[in-house]
Formats: sequence, C-alpha cells, structure tokens
Amino acid sequence: MDFKHISAMPREVMAFLDPKPGETFVDGTLGGGGHSSLIIDRIMPGGRFIGIDQDMDAISNARERFSHHGDSVSLIHDNFANIASVLSEQGISGVDGILVDIGLSQHQLNGSGRGFSFMRDEPLDMRMDSLGDTTAEELVNTLPEKELADIIFKYGEERFSRGIAKAIVRRREVAPITHTLELADIIRFAMPAKAVAKQKIHPATRSFQALRIAVNHELERLERFMDDFLALLNPGGRLCVLSFHSLEDRIVKQKMRYLASGCICSKSIPICVCGNEPKVKLLTRKAVRPADDEVEANPMARSTRLRACERL
Ligand SMILES: C[S@@+](CC[C@H](N)C(=O)[O-])C[C@H]1O[C@@H](n2cnc3c(N)ncnc32)[C@H](O)[C@@H]1O
Repeated sequence: MDFKHISAMPREVMAFLDPKPGETFVDGTLGGGGHSSLIIDRIMPGGRFIGIDQDMDAISNARERFSHHGDSVSLIHDNFANIASVLSEQGISGVDGILVDIGLSQHQLNGSGRGFSFMRDEPLDMRMDSLGDTTAEELVNTLPEKELADIIFKYGEERFSRGIAKAIVRRREVAPITHTLELADIIRFAMPAKAVAKQKIHPATRSFQALRIAVNHELERLERFMDDFLALLNPGGRLCVLSFHSLEDRIVKQKMRYLASGCICSKSIPICVCGNEPKVKLLTRKAVRPADDEVEANPMARSTRLRACERL
C-alpha cells in the first residue's frame, strides 16, 4: 500500500488546531496519517487521540504507524458522520480539537485499484468504504438517465451532463459499463470536441468526481457531521475542515456562520426576541487557501479550502 500522502496545508492546520500536551483530539479522516502524526506529536505525553477513517486500508496503515502509542491512540473504522457514537463508545464526552480533511488519499487515487482515477483501467467501484451500499458500476448501469444527468450536473458542475448521461445509457444498452477507461472514453466522446480541446482538466474529471460523491454520500455525511460536532467540542475546542469542492465548502461555511451568528431576528424587529447567542468564534472569516510554495510543491493542493472555528 502506498501511503506516502502529502498532507494539505499542514502549517495552517496546526496553527488553527493548536494542539497542546495532554489534550484530546480527533482526526476524522486519517488517510495517510500525515496530519494525525503532527497532532499526536504535539498532544503527547498525556494526550488522547482518536483517528477515524471509513477506508480500512487507512486504518491498517495507521495501526502499524501509531501502535507504539498504546491505549492513548484509538483507530476506528467508521464514518466521521458517526463521530458522536464513536466518541461515546470510547467513553469520551468532550474533545479539544477535531480535524476533517475531506477527499481522496493518495493511496485511494493511485494504489487502491478501486476506480477513483481515469488514468488507469480499474473496476468502477469508487467506494471509500468497501462495505458501502453502492458502487459506481451500479450507478452508471442502473440509474435512470435523468437521475444520472442530475448527479453529474449537481456534484460535478458539468455543463455537458445531459449529453454524457445519454451516451452512458446508450452504451449500457449494448453491454454493462464496468471499467474506468471505458467510462472515461464514453464521457470524452459525449462532449463537443471544441470544449474538450479548450479544457485544462481531463474531460472525465467532473463526472468522476460527481459519481464518487454520490457513491460515498459525501455531502449528506458532511452535513450530519456539521450538525453534531459542536456538542462534542469542549469550550475553547477547535474544528478545522479542509475541503476540495465548492459544495462541501458551502456546507461548512453556512454551518459555521450560523453557529457564529448571535441574534437571528429579522432586521425589522427593533429588539432581539430570539435570545440566540453565538456558539462559536470564526477563526477564518474567508476560506484560507494554500500558499504559493505549497501549490508549487503539491499541485493537487490547489483547490483546498480551510475553515476553522472555536467553541465559545
Ligand atoms: C485527503 S485524505 C486525508 C489525508 C490525511 N489528512 C493525511 O494527512 O494523510 C482523506 C481520507 O478521508 C477519508 N474519508 C473521507 N470522507 C470520510 C468520511 N465521511 N468518514 C471517514 N473517513 C472519510 C478517506 O477514506 C481518506 O482516507
């Protein structure tokens, strides 16, 4: 397994999370364990660390890497949407910091053989959790054309979604679509040649991203996490979220802003009647983007957005 993952925005993440010896931290997306390792180094001795990932490969890798910390480090195969039950099972009622770094690990993209990339021919699986309920192959071969087009449009922001869905349905009537390169070809030839020539990204990028988001229910799980995190943070505890997609960032932004807002009364009412108090302080007013030197060294970090807040 290739777990040489380059962690995104490590300086900024550590500055916002500010882990200190003896604190309790959760990394909801262990991946290659890069951020986790930085956090663990700072909270030990005396700290407690809970690492979660829905990919069993990430858990196995982390078990090898962090086993020397004994019971201070727990590594749990689950979805971060279930963070409340994960912490309750560990007997933990409050933590000092939570990180989620949403997206694909280097291992998933390049070494898992699960069809996340159109750069090599692999079965169309795309599940981050191999126990997940549906695969990309099932979606492309069974969804009605309109639903397929809607997924590609909504999650991929792909303007040629209708033509792509039509081409997929036409092809699957001949034989099921089972592999990445076949799907990437169908997508490419469903797009106008002029548009393909003009694009800087591979023509299948947006459609693959959309299918992955749908297969893994990524936005629904993020929403659930954002509904639950506050109750799990100790006062002064910090949340840091790294996202790579505008739809994810919007969910994070809206929830953080809502929690940071005090009065939510209509402007037409002269005195506050809602009694709503701010619950968090925003540590980032706008999404923070990676510095130029990081993007130069790791072009994949280009679209990362970081948002952080602190519980009051
Ligand atoms: C970008 S990688 C994390 C990299 C990690 N921060 C590092 O420094 O190595 C994303 C990881 O999050 C996991 N993941 C994504 N969404 C998840 C979710 N909802 N619940 C649990 N794990 C998730 C993926 O399986 C993947 O291993």
